[in-house]
Amino acid sequence: MEIFPALFFQILLLYLLSGFCSAADTLSSSMTISYGETLVSSGQCFELGFFSPGNSSKWYIGIWYKEFPEIVVWVANRDHPLRNSSGVLTIGPDGDLVLLNATTGVVWSSNSSRTEPGSAAQLLESGNLVLKRKDDTTESYIWQSFDFPSDTLLPGMKIGWNLSTGVNRYLTSWKDENDPSPGDITYRIDNPGMPQFVLRRGSEKIYRSGPWNGIRFSGIGLPLKTIFKYNHVFNNESLYYMNEASDNSIITRLTVNQSGLLQRFVLNKGDFSWTTMYSSQYDQCEEYGVCGANGICKISKRPICECLDGFVPKSRREWDVHDWSNGCVRRNPLDCQQGEQFLKVARVKLPDLLEFYLNKSMSIHECQPACFKNCYCNAYAYSDIRGNGSGCLMWFGNLIDIREFSQENSQQDIYVRMPASEIYHKKKTRHKLIFVVSSLLFGILFFGFLIWCLIQRRKRKRGSETNDKDIELPRFDLITITNATNNFSSTNMIGEGGFGIVYKGTLSTGQEVAVKRLSKNSGQGLQEFKNEVILIAKLQHRNLVRLLGCCLEGDERMLIYEYMPNKSLDYFIFDQNRKALLTWKKRFEIIMGISRGLLYLHRDSRLRIIHRDLKTSNILLDSDLNAKISDFGLARSFGGDQTEINTKRVVGTHGYMSPEYVVDGQFSVKSDVFSFGVLLLEIVSNRKNRRFHHPEHDHNLLGHAWLFFTEGRAWEIVDDISELSPVESEVLRCIHVGLLCVQKLPHDRPTMASVVVMLDNKGMALPRPKEPGFFVERSCIEADMSTSEESGLTHNVVTMSELEAR
Ligand SMILES: *[C@@H]1O[C@H](CO)[C@@H](O)[C@H](O)[C@H]1NC(C)=O
Ligand SMILES: *[C@@H]1O[C@H](CO)[C@@H](O)[C@H](O)[C@H]1NC(C)=O
Ligand SMILES: *[C@@H]1O[C@H](CO)[C@@H](O)[C@H](O)[C@H]1NC(C)=O
Ligand SMILES: *[C@@H]1O[C@H](CO)[C@@H](O)[C@H](O)[C@H]1NC(C)=O
Ligand SMILES: *[C@@H]1O[C@H](CO)[C@@H](O)[C@H](O)[C@H]1NC(C)=O
Ligand SMILES: *[C@@H]1O[C@H](CO)[C@@H](O)[C@H](O)[C@H]1NC(C)=O
Ligand SMILES: *[C@@H]1O[C@H](CO)[C@@H](O)[C@H](O)[C@H]1NC(C)=O
Ligand SMILES: *[C@@H]1O[C@H](CO)[C@@H](O)[C@H](O)[C@H]1NC(C)=O
Ligand SMILES: *[C@@H]1O[C@H](CO)[C@@H](O)[C@H](O)[C@H]1NC(C)=O
Repeated sequence: MEIFPALFFQILLLYLLSGFCSAADTLSSSMTISYGETLVSSGQCFELGFFSPGNSSKWYIGIWYKEFPEIVVWVANRDHPLRNSSGVLTIGPDGDLVLLNATTGVVWSSNSSRTEPGSAAQLLESGNLVLKRKDDTTESYIWQSFDFPSDTLLPGMKIGWNLSTGVNRYLTSWKDENDPSPGDITYRIDNPGMPQFVLRRGSEKIYRSGPWNGIRFSGIGLPLKTIFKYNHVFNNESLYYMNEASDNSIITRLTVNQSGLLQRFVLNKGDFSWTTMYSSQYDQCEEYGVCGANGICKISKRPICECLDGFVPKSRREWDVHDWSNGCVRRNPLDCQQGEQFLKVARVKLPDLLEFYLNKSMSIHECQPACFKNCYCNAYAYSDIRGNGSGCLMWFGNLIDIREFSQENSQQDIYVRMPASEIYHKKKTRHKLIFVVSSLLFGILFFGFLIWCLIQRRKRKRGSETNDKDIELPRFDLITITNATNNFSSTNMIGEGGFGIVYKGTLSTGQEVAVKRLSKNSGQGLQEFKNEVILIAKLQHRNLVRLLGCCLEGDERMLIYEYMPNKSLDYFIFDQNRKALLTWKKRFEIIMGISRGLLYLHRDSRLRIIHRDLKTSNILLDSDLNAKISDFGLARSFGGDQTEINTKRVVGTHGYMSPEYVVDGQFSVKSDVFSFGVLLLEIVSNRKNRRFHHPEHDHNLLGHAWLFFTEGRAWEIVDDISELSPVESEVLRCIHVGLLCVQKLPHDRPTMASVVVMLDNKGMALPRPKEPGFFVERSCIEADMSTSEESGLTHNVVTMSELEAR
């Protein structure tokens, strides 16, 4: 008897929930959903209902994250929008899920062949909308939304082929952010015998994962087993990919964006912002066929493209100006004669499977002879690298989209066929070499001794030396640079920093460059110099200043950068007249640019780099006023899982350094985030953090901004910036994010990834900032530390400032 009231109550509650606040997860045959009502999955993760994206006037049924309604992961009627919000989603008389418009016309239907009257639809916690038989608790669904992917791959969802039906499920981008109908970007598994993922714009390939080699896709590093469980099923019945987060606290999705990006986002449960874990524009070598036919992309080299050994550029002139599209051709054509050999190219992403032959049952010993036998076979590789390798993959025709991996996480090699003449050529040069080497041996020994003596003397004199073996960078000779800078004339001087002077130069080609000449007596600067060269040479991002080369001759040590005609950010924002030149739109672009550049340094570049001296004078502006971060002299790269480093030598500029760095010498990516926050507030207020004064109080800019923000007067921080009025909320968002970045405790500050997301997303709710660093300590810190001032020429191109902790 006791059961009855409880049951009754439950039913009542269910009814109330479903009919009243629409919080149920099931839609049964008698029920409908209309605008304003939703289904919510049992664990509150996903929500289904009517939505209208962006400024569109059309209406759709979609599934989104309950916490992030702007992130729609699935759209039912992509191709058949409702004209207005009058419509209902219900279970049709035959058991199909149907969407009816205002005149009860069927706009969209699940259209399953296996329906039965009386079925019910349920939104599962995985984000899957399923149609189930009445009272069926098994997982044999009549229909499920996971079988009809939109632009998002959720954990548990399969993409790939059902080989028995020939259906290939794949992701399709939206047309644009206001229109969820299928756009022209697709991401699917191609199955030419060896499955590979291909991202396409229309029919043009833009990115490729490389073929599956038994362990992984040859163009993707080892899967991160710790975060995801990957499930690759490649057999004679089906061929699909699926992933699941291995731990419940991580939410993840993979999306194709209409701009041609494939991105994986992750969110720690409870967090308020998504981070981009992976993007198909991870580096330049990801671009399909960037080096043309028979070229190989090496991300650590400058330029990134090379011809494969034995090949030469088809057009030298195009190649020299970095137009690689026409690729390379053989220096000596294959003639199918005796004496041909194969050259191993190690650790590669295998070329695209365009003209090829695959036999998975061949052993590796059969592969090479088989390729020899066929005069058109250009190269071969093992199709499965498990164990000692097996299977045989042969290429005919050009080899397209090869890249080299620098890490040891790739065991995939390819063997490229070489004509006998190429081998002979190599051998002959080798013989010559041996002769020359042996005849010079004596001389070398003799001179070696002399040089050794010299080096020893110089070492004693300078206390350090540059090991330039590991610098792979164009070298400029001293004469070129001397000529370019009018013999380092003072009229060419554009800046001066701690370690040297920066000159403007014009090369004989007319190209303008900035030359940083290290002072000869700054023995201390040499290590920084070396750091900078090695680090910057490996980095490429459009918001980082590009290093064109270096010059090391005699005592001279110089870095040659691209020239930035618009000097640096401080030149504009701290100047009464020039500040009007930067409109808000431009400033916001600059802010986004800096944040992306910094994000790249922190996370996306292969080395993880902390800048350590981020400040307005290190943000250079190109001719279009795009921001470029400069001066990595103080940066330190640090390995994989180290996130915090303690240093005895505090290097940086006052006003930008975080408390934990100044006080304890601890730096981490979060100390850069602090400096970024200061930058943000300076850009908004046109005021320097250091030396800031306000009649109402004695705080610095950070304290000032925080006080005013908490008093709801944030708008008063903003200086009169041109063209500000229509974007008030954007400005306030920047202040808010700035304050989050300068919070006292490093772990309170967001990462740069979150910063980018927070700045980018207008609708996102932000947490309240806590008290900023140096809120009260100001007077003691500033009075107590001896600093080296930034030089008077603050608009220099590349500055270095330094400060020793006592
Ligand atoms: C939505 O805005 C975009 C530009 O932001 C414009 O091109 C498009 O025409 C607008 N669409 C509608 C339906 O107003
Ligand atoms: C939607 O359109 C129909 C027919 O055009 C109309 O009857 C209905 O009132 C409209 N609904 C709304 C909410 O505008
Ligand atoms: C409703 O849908 C039917 C069938 O798709 C269509 O003929 C009709 O014009 C639609 N009515 C409205 C108001 O959109
Ligand atoms: C339902 O599917 C059948 C074939 O499977 C197709 O002919 C029909 O047009 C579809 N109906 C709708 C409304 O999509
Ligand atoms: C492939 O499709 C058939 C027919 O719809 C289905 O019975 C089978 O289970 C599917 N196979 C896989 C692996 O999904
Ligand atoms: C695609 O990416 C662009 C730029 O990152 C962004 O503005 C846009 O909102 C994205 N579109 C979708 C549908 O997510
Ligand atoms: C797949 O292979 C298995 C064993 O290798 C075989 O039993 C099965 O019939 C095959 N299925 C198809 C659809 O070829
Ligand atoms: C694949 O290689 C095996 C072993 O060499 C051979 O027996 C078989 O005939 C080959 N298959 C094809 C289709 O050529
Ligand atoms: C791999 O090769 C080695 C040496 O040739 C042999 O001892 C080993 O058994 C092979 N392993 C497999 C899995 O074939």
